[in-house]
Amino acid sequence: MGYLDGIRTIKDLPIENKRLFLRVDFNVPLDQGKVTDDTRVREALPTIKHAMSRGAKVILASHLGRPKKGPDPALSMEHVGAVLAEHLKAEVHVPDDCIGDAAKKVVFDLRDGQVCLLENLRFHLEEEKDDEAFAAALSQLADVYVDDAFGAVHRAHASVHGLAKLFRDRGCGFLLEKEIAALGKLVTGADKPYVAVLGGAKVSDKIAVVEALLAQVDALVIGGAMANTFLAAMGKDCKASKVEGDKLALARTLLEKAKQKGVEVLVPIDGVVAGSLEATEGAVVDVSSVPDGKMILDIGPKTIELFAKRFANAKTIFWNGPMGLFEKAPFSKGTFGVADAMANSGAFTVVGGGDSAAAVNAAGGDIAKKMSHISTGGGASLELIEGKKLPGIEVLRGTTA
Ligand code: 3PG
Repeated sequence: MGYLDGIRTIKDLPIENKRLFLRVDFNVPLDQGKVTDDTRVREALPTIKHAMSRGAKVILASHLGRPKKGPDPALSMEHVGAVLAEHLKAEVHVPDDCIGDAAKKVVFDLRDGQVCLLENLRFHLEEEKDDEAFAAALSQLADVYVDDAFGAVHRAHASVHGLAKLFRDRGCGFLLEKEIAALGKLVTGADKPYVAVLGGAKVSDKIAVVEALLAQVDALVIGGAMANTFLAAMGKDCKASKVEGDKLALARTLLEKAKQKGVEVLVPIDGVVAGSLEATEGAVVDVSSVPDGKMILDIGPKTIELFAKRFANAKTIFWNGPMGLFEKAPFSKGTFGVADAMANSGAFTVVGGGDSAAAVNAAGGDIAKKMSHISTGGGASLELIEGKKLPGIEVLRGTTA
């Protein structure tokens, strides 16, 4: 079954003049109350604007951060409401609470085409418990349910799961539809050759996705600190580099599985090394001759070339996880070089969310624009690639409650 089978989109739903509960993922990075990256807000605008233009009374709802003790002013949706209001050039009311009288007062005052943004859903601990009573309280606010929060569909939380079940008219927004179409294609019918690029800190975070990818890809390209563990498993002495000593056997097993399945595995042949994470410059060395006391903080130029060559005839490339400490200029060339090679490969290119999306944006130029799809979901995109059924997607299927 296709990932979108049986799911109505907002275009198919009767939202005219209705109160529409629109679950978005406005879990954006904040620095002292300022939104430092509003990508998730901008990506939700097409759905919000569509709903407004159809005369819906739009009730937006999201979580923000991981509050564990109830309301926390530092994580108030007010911060995001201000950014949204600027984009929409419209007033965005944020009630003091997402349920109860405070929410009802704002919601029932909305006129057709107006928008409000409920206070942080996670200020109620019931949200993460998929609590039925909490979902029922939210459901009192609206007539139709639309989920556009791709970044949260892997969570069986009340606003993405229990709540959706309470609506006969439920479906997905344009962002969720776009995400499912792009990532779903990788799982159900990626054009070959298919190359997956994995980076980031730990092998242990990526075991499930590596296992899943081995069944699909022609080549697996490994960079970032997780590559050190693979290099160590292959007998290289990575000296002071971060290596997961307890995952060496696992890395060997994954390499063996790749061999059995005929999947080519590419690991770094050179790296940029320094004495500490605080270093302000690095030196390029072969991975077989990392000096004592030094750690690999980026892939080197020969490795970038090797990886880029592997992209040249690829028809599909999926990338998750940076190749090094890209936030620091001396160790950013590998990540940006891989992004550049991928963007110019001519393949269907998909970038997983989180750090990889941030890296592609930081790479500058028109690299981000040239990617076929940059996901807004971190954990959600990985779980989808793993072939898992995601609760927030599955609950949208079917037309009756
Ligand atoms: C994300 O940022 O990946 C999503 O918003 C999910 O957030 P969570 O990991 O706190 O559930």
